[in-house]
Amino acid sequence: MPKICLSLTGATITEDLAVLEKYRSQIDLVELRADYLEPGELFHIRSFPEKAGLPSILTVRRRSDGGKFDLGEGVRLVTFAKGLAFAESDQSRNFAYVDIEYDFHIPSIQEAARTFGTRIIRSKHCMEGLPANIERVWRELTARPYEIPKLVVRANGTKDVDSVFSLFKSGDKRQDHIVVATGELGFCTRVLAERLGSMLVYANDIDLSLGQAAPGQLDPRQLLETYRLREYSADWDLFGIVGGASVIHSLSPAIHNPGFAALGLRSLYLPFPSDSIEAFIAFAERIGIKGISITVPYKEQVLPMLSRWSPEVEAIGACNTAIRDGSSWVGYNTDWYGFSTDVRRFLGIEDLSGLRVTILGAGGAARAVAYALKKYGAKACVINRSMSKAKHLAESYGFEWSGTTERAVEMVDRYNDLIVQTTSVGLEGGQPGDAIDWYEFTGREALYETIYSPPETPVMKRARAAGCRVTNGIGMLQAQAEAQFLLFTGSEYPESITRA
Ligand code: ATR
Repeated sequence: MPKICLSLTGATITEDLAVLEKYRSQIDLVELRADYLEPGELFHIRSFPEKAGLPSILTVRRRSDGGKFDLGEGVRLVTFAKGLAFAESDQSRNFAYVDIEYDFHIPSIQEAARTFGTRIIRSKHCMEGLPANIERVWRELTARPYEIPKLVVRANGTKDVDSVFSLFKSGDKRQDHIVVATGELGFCTRVLAERLGSMLVYANDIDLSLGQAAPGQLDPRQLLETYRLREYSADWDLFGIVGGASVIHSLSPAIHNPGFAALGLRSLYLPFPSDSIEAFIAFAERIGIKGISITVPYKEQVLPMLSRWSPEVEAIGACNTAIRDGSSWVGYNTDWYGFSTDVRRFLGIEDLSGLRVTILGAGGAARAVAYALKKYGAKACVINRSMSKAKHLAESYGFEWSGTTERAVEMVDRYNDLIVQTTSVGLEGGQPGDAIDWYEFTGREALYETIYSPPETPVMKRARAAGCRVTNGIGMLQAQAEAQFLLFTGSEYPESITRA
């Protein structure tokens, strides 16, 4: 089982020790990133292991390897020497490990480390991405059996992540080693360190403003609580959500993983940011993923890769769930169910017949909403920036439609029991603003915003101020995830879990 190593990137040792205290009960060892320390602090690193009271790694990473150290190789050498000097017979007062690069060969430092029981981590950082000669690089790193080889590769694409998993096959534990792919796409190499045989997984203090050592990294609490690192073993069933880079912030792991845990299932769910749905499906097959949630921008792109579509996928033209069935994938859509379940809860009514609804937007989310509204008997209009898309969607359900022209105001006036906002306007990290800024709320409309991050968008704020009933998309997310959970596990989502 991989150990959790907290990487400390404070400017002072005092700051680092304060962060360590916060996580002491959750971690196994610490890495002192001396390259983040102020120069004056370098004089005090020798006493760090004793103060830390945990096995400690000394790292002085130079800029070319993704670190911060820029005082030159001479000072770097002296920093290592300071860290390893005056070794004590009580080994807990010495650094347990020193992380030195593949091209750092200073016999006196290496000898000192070996003599006093400090293990050498021999690291190679491939900052540009996976090198073509990766197997040779690894052979060279593993040449000295008394050292711990460490490979850090920037994942530029899902193919790189796939290559890392194929190079470090499950259970390959012939030699202690550390492997991690950095960047958002490499996130799964941290959570699934066990699958790569990696002896440790690096974690960071994500909340504090001490800076972060690498993108796509994790907090010890997430590793333990959300991703069950201490329990996980390579024979567990894997599930996940594939999407663009932002999927790293998805709330879905925090819904599915507690559900698995509550039912005692040996299953894990994690985010897989990806640059290509084709590459991801190949990767999912290699590592044996059983079920996938699919989000922006792949809900349509995934369709040709599925061998069967549910009737809802067929009707909506988008798939948000794929289940592995033998050697193929079956596609489902639970978005429409998530919306119909939550909107009826929001309005406090079972049947939507007679309800007059405005759908803002005509993308994938709007199509699921339109399908649900039709199924429950509502009357609707579709208003979208691109008129042709509004027309196309509306006509397939016999709804009215409009572009965002003057006609739109008159149309909303007639469909004003409920307004469903499905565009990406107002989404965290996306286009800011209000997709319906041309409409003045009277207070009688109920507003259903399908966005949940941020929890309150500008249009929600404006509608609330006008006296409207308002909700965001968190309930839709939860309900669609519960339907996915049933497809993934064959069991209902446990009632006992507090809703997200
Ligand atoms: P999703 O699958 O999340 O619905 P999508 O299919 O890309 O995403 O659809 C995005 C929706 O947001 C579309 O209705 C889009 O309008 P267009 O069809 O005119 O592109 C809408 N949208 C995105 N940016 C917008 C903006 N700045 N103003 C108004 N509508 C916008």
